[in-house]
Amino acid sequence: MYDYIKNYIEEEFEYLHQHPELSFEEYETTKRLKDDLSAHEIGILPLDLKTGAVGLIGQGERTIALRADIDALPIEEQTSLPYKSVNKGIMHACGHDSHAAIMLGAALILKAQEQELSGKVKIIFQPAEEAPGGALEIIRKGGLDEVEAIFGLHCTPLYETGVLGIKAGPTHAAVEKFKIELKGRGTHAAHPDAGNDVILAGSHFIATVQSIVSRNTEPTESAIVSITHFQAGNTWNVLPETAFLEGTIRTFAKEERALCKRRFTEILNGIAEAFGIKAELTWVVEVPATDNDPYLAELAINTAKKMGFETRAANRSLGGEDFSLYQQKVRGLFTLVGTGISYPNHNPHFEVDKKALYPASLYIATLAKAYLEAKNEF
Ligand code: NI
Repeated sequence: MYDYIKNYIEEEFEYLHQHPELSFEEYETTKRLKDDLSAHEIGILPLDLKTGAVGLIGQGERTIALRADIDALPIEEQTSLPYKSVNKGIMHACGHDSHAAIMLGAALILKAQEQELSGKVKIIFQPAEEAPGGALEIIRKGGLDEVEAIFGLHCTPLYETGVLGIKAGPTHAAVEKFKIELKGRGTHAAHPDAGNDVILAGSHFIATVQSIVSRNTEPTESAIVSITHFQAGNTWNVLPETAFLEGTIRTFAKEERALCKRRFTEILNGIAEAFGIKAELTWVVEVPATDNDPYLAELAINTAKKMGFETRAANRSLGGEDFSLYQQKVRGLFTLVGTGISYPNHNPHFEVDKKALYPASLYIATLAKAYLEAKNEF
């Protein structure tokens, strides 16, 4: 039975890898995964989702969820894998194909033991983690209803196959994405006195926000404030009317997050006033930091060790992960799964070791059962 599941999910992984789709466009991926669930008599919840799906296994009062993201990235694959992407310019360069395969494997293992399950397990195939917004969509459409605990994972090319990274507390940063529109008064380059220069104001702003991390945040805490896009003007002898800026703020601690946003806004308003321009700030994306529940982390470490995995304290990353949105609602644990040393995530040469998939399925399924069997309520 379990050899069958191992082979099955490795084949499905290859199919998903070969047919990557972008955030909120995971139509074929969704169809494939729904077919996989149906073929194994796993019910699919009738949620109003455009892409993504939620399966249900088991019976009883309590419900937990296993979550895999399923979207790919706008990257041209440069591996020489026999199952390389056939969708031009799109690649599973973050390994979400492996997450889907691992959770599918966990679903099949749990289905095979359904009679012994002391609760219900939702299998969440979440769209658009990269967009982001997929987790919010699943929550809005009821995918998290009745769930008391959630487990997720991410592959990592920093660990060998057979290694799991598990830790209580935050592992992925809070992510802010902002856009700024500066409006001044355009003028001839020969008459700067007749205008209000948005390029000069924007440049001061870019330089000044770097003082937030160096002078305002707690020095032992991690934080990033970056302007990644600055656009203004289109010729040499005109000072333009408007400028556009965007970028990101990354933090772990709630206090630092609030502080960075407050100082960022204060500096922007101060610069705008000093230069006589208008500044319009929009927070486009706001995802909190992940925060692993200490009890779940301990349970997971014990489970992994008993199964023969090597466990490490998960590396912290200033990368974001919208799994945190579920953790705002219910206790959750996010595990890093070693998928063999490779190029970094989001690199066109990124690869996942297929041998890591099935053991990870077994780990997640065993952890789900261990949680449901634990009698203590906390
Ligand atoms: Ni990812």
